[in-house]
Amino acid sequence: MRAVDRDGTAKQIEQFMHRWQDDGVCQWAAVDLGTDRLIGRIGLLRHHDWPLAPSPIEVGWVLHRDYWGQGLATEGGRAAMDCWRDLLLDDAQLISITVPANDRSRAVMKRLGLTYRGTAQWRGLDVVWYAIDR
Ligand SMILES: CC(C)(COP(=O)(O)OP(=O)(O)OC[C@H]1O[C@@H](n2cnc3c(N)ncnc32)[C@H](O)[C@@H]1OP(=O)(O)O)[C@@H](O)C(=O)NCCC(=O)NCCS
Repeated sequence: MRAVDRDGTAKQIEQFMHRWQDDGVCQWAAVDLGTDRLIGRIGLLRHHDWPLAPSPIEVGWVLHRDYWGQGLATEGGRAAMDCWRDLLLDDAQLISITVPANDRSRAVMKRLGLTYRGTAQWRGLDVVWYAIDR
């Protein structure tokens, strides 16, 4: 995933704050509890521009490379799924989206029990999507 500069980061944080305000859900900061280091973000996002369904909830993850291979995306994804299952009762489906070549992200989706549902064109990209139904 492409790194963003300081201005891009500030813009991203502002967008996330709006998501919390407008949608009531967004991704969480992932923090290494041993060092307090910010190592990524994991959680739920509501996509108002998804072409195949109106405003579905997506579970997603981004981690600093040093923290890959430890099950942390799966752990955070599972916590996000618990929130979807327990709190977002009107959302019958939880989806997850990535590009076809992102095997690591697809592996997290499968570990969490999401199943392959197909392809789509989204934000100018060819993507694959997975889902789990309530
Ligand atoms: C997608 C991303 C978060 C996946 O990270 P990851 O480390 O592969 O996934 P997890 O944190 O769930 O870790 C799984 C790995 O930890 C291992 N693991 C160790 N303990 C584990 C545990 N308790 N539970 C699950 N897996 C565990 C698994 O065997 C697996 O190992 P592998 O790398 O040899 O296959 C990471 O690749 C990333 O940040 N990529 C860039 C951003 C990105 O593409 N995000 C997705 C956009 S759609």
